[in-house]
Amino acid sequence: MRVKELLREKLSSNELKFVPSSFDIVGSRSGAVAIVEFPPDSPDHVKRAVAEAIMAIHKNVRTVLAKRSERRGVYRLREYEVLAGSGETEVVHKEHGVLMKVDPTKVYFSPREATERMRIARQVKPGEFVMVMFAGVGPYALAIAKTQPLVRRIVAIEINPEAYRYMVENIELNKLQGKIVPVLGDVRHEAARWYGMCDRVVMPLPRGAYKFLNEAVRSLRPRGGVIHFYHWSREGELFVEALYLVEREALVHGMYARVLDARVVSPYAPRIYKVCIDTLIKPL
Ligand SMILES: C[S@@+](CC[C@H](N)C(=O)[O-])C[C@H]1O[C@@H](n2cnc3c(N)ncnc32)[C@H](O)[C@@H]1O
Repeated sequence: MRVKELLREKLSSNELKFVPSSFDIVGSRSGAVAIVEFPPDSPDHVKRAVAEAIMAIHKNVRTVLAKRSERRGVYRLREYEVLAGSGETEVVHKEHGVLMKVDPTKVYFSPREATERMRIARQVKPGEFVMVMFAGVGPYALAIAKTQPLVRRIVAIEINPEAYRYMVENIELNKLQGKIVPVLGDVRHEAARWYGMCDRVVMPLPRGAYKFLNEAVRSLRPRGGVIHFYHWSREGELFVEALYLVEREALVHGMYARVLDARVVSPYAPRIYKVCIDTLIKPL
């Protein structure tokens, strides 16, 4: 049964307008956190009723959180309000056979990006050396290692110590020690250790990945490689800026960029979308 249906008896039609039609669940059968975004000025009693309904329907949900801010800062975190449950927020999330321990209040994590991670993972070929910048708790690196067991190595760089700690644990949880090299630090400084070594670089930081394109292009082998570049773009000119930024950086390094794929990943704000362009970078 859906939350809105359950609440139809309890709330007036006016109050029902504040009940969101969807929410995120992070976790698994062993325990989960529900994350809800309410319209502005939603009454507290409606929020509580929604939280209770979610817990009644999804028996694995231990805590219901309401979003209280946009994502902010270098770590891309937001504030939450505990609406119901124990307040416990550390869970193990399962995605395409990968287990990930995560606390969504301390690290960036979005269960909505599972399909996109799989899309990238499926492109990786045997023997490749991959760099995942802005690695978070490791979802891209783990998806790649699970999907392409013959990948040579994946270097995963993350600046948030909490996310790095979870990534290290998640690598062990999935028995992928040795395949994934977790690195705590700033891509700006750490990437240089792998300059000239990578076949593929993943850049999942739509807010500002373009500032690290120099490091991405220099990480590729002299014969070139693939960059998956994420960017926020305006409706009507979805891929123009992203492509311009990648092409310009490639040229600076005596390379050219050929687009392999360009797609909208998800809506971000009114008329703003998260896009990804997959580009093959080759020497001129
Ligand atoms: C949008 S999140 C993506 C996390 C992860 N790839 C995922 O899909 O769940 C971006 C991540 O990049 C990290 N980050 C931001 N700037 C960074 C930098 N200069 N070097 C390394 N990591 C950085 C943040 O802490 C955050 O965890």
